[in-house]
Amino acid sequence: MTENTTIDRPTPAISAAQSEVEEQLIRNVLASFDSCDNPRLKQLMQAIVRHLHAFIRDVRLTEDEWNTAISFLTEVGHITDDRRQEFILLSDVFGASMQTINVNNEAYKNATEATVFGPFFVDDAPQIEHGGDIAGGATGQPCWVEGTVADTDGNPIQNARIEVWEADEDGFYDVQYGDDRVSGRAHLYSDDDGRFRFWGLTPTPYPIPHDGPVGRMLAATGRSPMRASHLHFMVTAPGQRALVTHIFVRGDELLTSDTVFGVKQSLIKDFVEQPAGTPAPDGRDLGDSTWARAEFDIVLAPEI
Ligand code: BEZ
Ligand code: FE
Repeated sequence: MTENTTIDRPTPAISAAQSEVEEQLIRNVLASFDSCDNPRLKQLMQAIVRHLHAFIRDVRLTEDEWNTAISFLTEVGHITDDRRQEFILLSDVFGASMQTINVNNEAYKNATEATVFGPFFVDDAPQIEHGGDIAGGATGQPCWVEGTVADTDGNPIQNARIEVWEADEDGFYDVQYGDDRVSGRAHLYSDDDGRFRFWGLTPTPYPIPHDGPVGRMLAATGRSPMRASHLHFMVTAPGQRALVTHIFVRGDELLTSDTVFGVKQSLIKDFVEQPAGTPAPDGRDLGDSTWARAEFDIVLAPEI
């Protein structure tokens, strides 16, 4: 990953008179929000004006480039509907979604870190019992996932609602098939000791939807649309901050290039493959297939 990237295109020198023209415009636009009586809205509007004008002046934006940007955003709007949110995807690939999560989920003691929500969560996924299977027909290597939910003082949290969802081995979520299938998702509750366990699928890498303008932007800039393999969690319990996160697969070569910048070291877990014939923890008969197991101990921060 590139650190301390410098902008290697020097801003051409501009005359003092030209600079004054540009700065006067910024002052005028800033002043146009002066009478906004919502202080937060005023702050947001004036800050975006400052940053936007700084960008335009920094790169000396050409009129062709401005037109291209407008056409691009228009396409992002046109492809967005109830089922596809290209603006969120754009925010994701710019790291803006992840930065907003960072800003709003400051590290708190030993609480589990949050990461991007993604577009594939669905309300009302089926409930499973402890040790149940979220696959619901989704194909992939069976994976036993177990762990605990606790508060930051180590007290187990019982009855926490745990939503889990993931792509199948072909890299697709159920909602991407365009039929009514519900697979690769479920919810369950932590038990009296704060423990949970379920069968899922060993996560595999998949691309974000890249057949639209965001995908074209990635291709034009030599970026990959691939996400590192992951399993999504959303965990809620009364009095605790809701946690939206994933766990990632240690050893996955995409960990350092996740296209939405969602990977955090603390969320990388061992998914340990078990040879065919290894007895499953719940006695399930897996025939001659291999399976994997992973552990995830979840710590919820208190609600502020
Ligand atoms: C996902 O995790 O499924 C996802 C996250 C961000 C953008 C697209 C997909
Ligand atoms: Fe995902």
